Amino acid sequence: MTEFLKAPKGTFDVLPPDGQELLRVRSVLGEHIQAAGYSYIETPTFEDTSLFVRGVGQSTDVVSKEMYSFTTKGDDDLTLRPEGTASVMRAVLEHGIHKGALPAKLWYSGSFYRYERPQAGRFRHFSQVGAEAIGSNDPVLDAELIVVAMDSFKALGLKRVNLLLNSLGDSSDRPAYRQALVKFLSGLDLDEATRERAAINPLRVLDDKREVVRAQLLDAPVMTDFLSDHNRAHFDKVQALLTSAGIEWTKAPHLVRGLDYYTRTAFEFVHDGLGAQSAVGGGGRYDGLSGSLGGPDLPSVGWAIGVDRTLLAMRAEEVLAQQSAVPVVDVFAVPIGQAASDLAFDIVTALRRAGISADLAVDGRGLKGAMKSADRTGAKIAIVMGERDLEQGVVQLKTMETGEQVSVPIADAVSGVISALKSAPGRKSL
Ligand code: HAM
Repeated sequence: MTEFLKAPKGTFDVLPPDGQELLRVRSVLGEHIQAAGYSYIETPTFEDTSLFVRGVGQSTDVVSKEMYSFTTKGDDDLTLRPEGTASVMRAVLEHGIHKGALPAKLWYSGSFYRYERPQAGRFRHFSQVGAEAIGSNDPVLDAELIVVAMDSFKALGLKRVNLLLNSLGDSSDRPAYRQALVKFLSGLDLDEATRERAAINPLRVLDDKREVVRAQLLDAPVMTDFLSDHNRAHFDKVQALLTSAGIEWTKAPHLVRGLDYYTRTAFEFVHDGLGAQSAVGGGGRYDGLSGSLGGPDLPSVGWAIGVDRTLLAMRAEEVLAQQSAVPVVDVFAVPIGQAASDLAFDIVTALRRAGISADLAVDGRGLKGAMKSADRTGAKIAIVMGERDLEQGVVQLKTMETGEQVSVPIADAVSGVISALKSAPGRKSL
């Protein structure tokens, strides 16, 4: 027996009808973010490895363990992008977008790759929609991004997305916090690898998911107790704006995020129906990223939503649309015989050009099979054309819901279908 090849471990195919829902998630997110003044940008799916090492940070799991890195035949060290923010900032700096009007508000949608241990909701290839507001300190941007994401979740029918909110400070206040955290961590029973991680970035330990570590962190000092007046005011303003927009959140003083570039506002959108991988999205400010890539001071904020996990959340809340496996069309042509098939092609083409969704039976399918296909597509009108019809210069227009049939001259087929559609009842059985 032939062994078929399978998709690589940690990846999956999105099959119909889920594919339609995947597109819907992307377009709902895209429409909301575009309506807030963000423009679409696309960057390559691979970049110089050093971009992520410098941008995302050496102490993160993403960089130290999860990158798909390779050397090309031309000796370039490249990495499949594990996230989008570093790439967007690279593109902004490379093309001088930051020299124009600021903030630069950009959004993207695409594939990302992390060599993670696959589990429910955690994949090696996944899809994100992201948004970045580059070149401004204004807390309005932090708030607008959060509101847009929460409103998008709502538009997708999700009711159980919770916003976790924190502030991580910056170079003005984080050193004092870091010192307090290092002191606290030195008193804990941590393994060697965790100690090494703490030596590079002690905040990383707060992101440890293991229960043995988490249990020891309950009394860890929290960044919000150390915020400078300036950063406290910024964080307060973000919260006031969220309140004014009717957004609720949970304070998450230990939320640090998995990437090192974050400063000040940090947030995650979590869903309670997803098990351990509960984040459907996350983001925050990354005021120092431009600087770490050699660029000027460009305070920025953004988020990325995991499209796959959003779909899983929609399944958990049972709000996925009941899509049929074949796209629904208004009209289905059923030709019997070669001459009828050619005519069906012409009529269906004309209908499509007139903006009407239409499909047709192919492969010389017989009447019974073709009518079954017509039924499955949910068509309201079937155009049936047999040899005898053609001899008489007519086609039959059948209203699928009632079974009513009228014949119209071939020359009037397209206009006949258009007027029949106006009065045809919708399909109850779908
Ligand atoms: P992130 O939290 O690493 O942030 O990823 C954002 C979202 O992508 C996650 O909340 C999750 O829904 C999804 N995601 C991440 N990894 C996986 C995976 N292995 N399998 C399935 N879904 C996954 C970022 O990527 C930042 N670039 C977000 C950002 C934009 N921050 C500022 N601007």
